Amino acid sequence: MCGIVGYLGQRQAAPILLEGLQRLEYRGYDSAGVAVIENNAIRLDKKVGKLVNLREKLNGSMPQSTVGIGHTRWATHGKPSDRNAHPHLDCSGRFAVVHNGIIENYITLREWLISKGHQFRSETDTEVLPHLVEQLYNGDLVETMLRVVKKVDGSFAAVALALDEPGRLVAARQDSPLVVGLGEGENFLASDIPALLSHTRQTYILEDGEFAVLTRERVEVLDRGGSRVDKKIFHVKWEAAQAEKDGYAHFMLKEIHEQPRALRETLGGRIAPDGSGVVLDELNIPEQQIQDINKIFITACGTAFHAGVVGKYIIEDLARVPVEVDIASEFRYRNPLVDDKTLVIVISQSGETADTLAALREARRKGARVVAVTNVVDSSVAREADDVIYTHAGPEIAVASTKAYSTQLICMYLLGLYLAQKRGTLSAEETARIVGQLKKLPEKVSAVLENGKEIKDFVRRHVDCPSFFFIGRGVDYAVAMEGSLKLKEISYIHAEAYAAGELKHGTLALIVEGVPVVALATQETLFEKTVSNIKEVKAREATVLALAPHTLDEVAKVADEVIYIPQTHPALTPVLAVVPLQLLAYHMAVARGCDVDQPRNLAKSVTVE
Ligand code: M6R
Repeated sequence: MCGIVGYLGQRQAAPILLEGLQRLEYRGYDSAGVAVIENNAIRLDKKVGKLVNLREKLNGSMPQSTVGIGHTRWATHGKPSDRNAHPHLDCSGRFAVVHNGIIENYITLREWLISKGHQFRSETDTEVLPHLVEQLYNGDLVETMLRVVKKVDGSFAAVALALDEPGRLVAARQDSPLVVGLGEGENFLASDIPALLSHTRQTYILEDGEFAVLTRERVEVLDRGGSRVDKKIFHVKWEAAQAEKDGYAHFMLKEIHEQPRALRETLGGRIAPDGSGVVLDELNIPEQQIQDINKIFITACGTAFHAGVVGKYIIEDLARVPVEVDIASEFRYRNPLVDDKTLVIVISQSGETADTLAALREARRKGARVVAVTNVVDSSVAREADDVIYTHAGPEIAVASTKAYSTQLICMYLLGLYLAQKRGTLSAEETARIVGQLKKLPEKVSAVLENGKEIKDFVRRHVDCPSFFFIGRGVDYAVAMEGSLKLKEISYIHAEAYAAGELKHGTLALIVEGVPVVALATQETLFEKTVSNIKEVKAREATVLALAPHTLDEVAKVADEVIYIPQTHPALTPVLAVVPLQLLAYHMAVARGCDVDQPRNLAKSVTVE
């Protein structure tokens, strides 16, 4: 995720900006840059790759200035490159802007600005901001930024620097974090607290819709209308390492809690403004090729494979095309029946998983069209696929994948709806119904996250159980697979996922008194059947934790405990149901003293076979 820093004071800005960016390195980035006012001009230095590259560039010619902004970029629009790195300038070079987030209407804004004569140098969504500032500038950067933000849809934390106003920095926040550090004769900005801690512990945490106007002597916080906000100082007590995790004990927990934002950003700009369907402008599949698709393969590894299993249920149901889902390491060696009428979807958070990449290459060799779903812009998978749908989850640091999975699910829904739209397999009413529910998922995930207590209690009672079972039918089975993997991966407890109806064909022999069974029962049409399976394990004295929407509270009559999730369209329940399972694995791992973020024997990205 991008990192922002800003400084205005008596000291040299560049070393402070570089140190701040270094403190934000844990967020993940692929390029870095700084802009300062030097010799009555804005001086811009930026470099793709690690900060050391930028430092090398500045070596011997460190910018001389007491005001500046800096940025580490994690690419979302436009590949990592010097050109796409931030800060970005307007045409005249009088304004510099750094930005974190996604500007959803950047294509429209860009076209409008080009029609006004602006020239763009990068492929980023961010570059519309300095040009908008240039276009709307009336001699007052604060008033201009208030107007700029009104034109922008999406999420952002942005900081602007104007050559004509060297004594101030103006920052705006909407859905992307931004913190002001309060000093003596100097003030700071950063997207996260660790970048401030060596200078100050007195901060203002900006809220959505707030602006900060920094001078050397003071900081004013304004609302959208430009009125002053009476802001309370937040005194930071955390140490740097804790602050990197936003106060969460582990990256995994932080990433679980980031899901509402990640889902919002992944949906951003991909739903028609009137809610009638989805917009996937990034797909360039010729119309005829879409009509000709007679089979879809989804291939991936681990958690991404589990997202693919949900994808199979969804895409088959919505677009009425047969979908096979295959583990990438199997797909690549089994001479799959793939040809130019096959659409192959590869899913990979990192975009670098060796088996997934090999499966992609095999599919293309056989003539299939390949759509990649990945989180990392310009990753190998993104570069080699025909089309790419990016999950905008932000960097995932914990080895256990959480927000990448839920955003991959969002992409499965978007793709399923897109194919259904093109192939005319879903009524307009049903499409609008699903889209309407899709938009509500981020807030519903927030609601699920608020109810973590029951899970902690359950964990306390089962911390010593050597073995867990996860059962479900339909998409619930797919989510059960992910819940089981999460538990194994970070808490080292043996866990198995079963299609609930399959238990009696063998696995039921393992169900004895006290064995915990997590039963997913989110599907109304399958509810009675799942309840029968719960009764089967209860008859063998298992302890059942059920997961169901409030509308299916009958489950409480058969299960020992129930965790309720908000009601949504049945196809969308995986996004909600997985969250308690992620929390279950997390709290179990903590209770068992495991290394949550770096589980034994595992790597975040498996780039070898
Ligand atoms: O980067 P990828 O999505 O291709 O990674 C695939 C798997 O290695 C990954 O999902 C793995 O299973 C996770 N650690 C599970 O939490």
